[in-house]
Amino acid sequence: MLDIPDDPFDVPALSNALAGTPFSGKLHFFPTIHSTSTYAMQQAETGTQDGTVYFADEQTAGRGRGAHEWSSPPGSGLYVSVLLRPHIPPADVLWLSLAAGLSVRDAVMQVTSLECDLRWPNDLLFGTRKFCGILTELNAEVTRIRHLVVGIGINVHQQHFPPELSSFATSLHIETGRDWPRQELLIALLQSLHREVLALSDPVQANIAKQSVLNRLEGASSWVRGKQVRVDEAEGFEGVTAGLDARGFLQVRTPHGLRTVYSGGVREIR
Ligand code: BTN
Repeated sequence: MLDIPDDPFDVPALSNALAGTPFSGKLHFFPTIHSTSTYAMQQAETGTQDGTVYFADEQTAGRGRGAHEWSSPPGSGLYVSVLLRPHIPPADVLWLSLAAGLSVRDAVMQVTSLECDLRWPNDLLFGTRKFCGILTELNAEVTRIRHLVVGIGINVHQQHFPPELSSFATSLHIETGRDWPRQELLIALLQSLHREVLALSDPVQANIAKQSVLNRLEGASSWVRGKQVRVDEAEGFEGVTAGLDARGFLQVRTPHGLRTVYSGGVREIR
């Protein structure tokens, strides 16, 4: 029998804790919803403001990257989507998406003291098991972002996973043997995300902010360099990771030369 703790959200307290960020006063909680990201993308079409946050106790149709599902059982995880209208070129969205991974890493470290690994572009893992995924969706013209939604799913209270997931997935509970409050994680995450968005949106500081994302990723991720990987895009290819290019894309050294990973993800091969 599942023993999920009572871990409610207190939306007014959350809003207070986020005072000074664009998220305060724009928090929408759902006991259950199909997908916070689907909803956020729909709301964005109606002119909803920058910084609006949708989060839920349960998702019935949680979505992951590459049309995968995101398992979102009630009371178990943090399921949150943030609607942003940043004044950055569409080509810089990857930096924001990478920075979102660093924000989750920061938040998890702040709340649990655990250090996790980052797999490009923004999966968060303990060892070989993933506990957080980020889906960044964009609505843009070539030179102008209309809106983007950063959807973040963190496995928090799960004590086990179905057999088909158990060798790939973990949770903060499984890693530490105890429960952590989703509210604190969400506050730390949104505060950190706010700092990242601010830095990357500053027209004068943006290049420094990108370099900072790059440096922190290099320091935090075992995947950016020297990892033997298979790239799941198009016909697929294999090689050794060789850092990020100036746009934030992962590079992989193959027997035929240096290749850039534009889509899909990477898997370790041993
Ligand atoms: C991944 O495939 O790794 C990305 C998973 C993203 C899941 C989150 S949960 C909140 C938001 N709503 C969704 O339907 N997906 C994202």
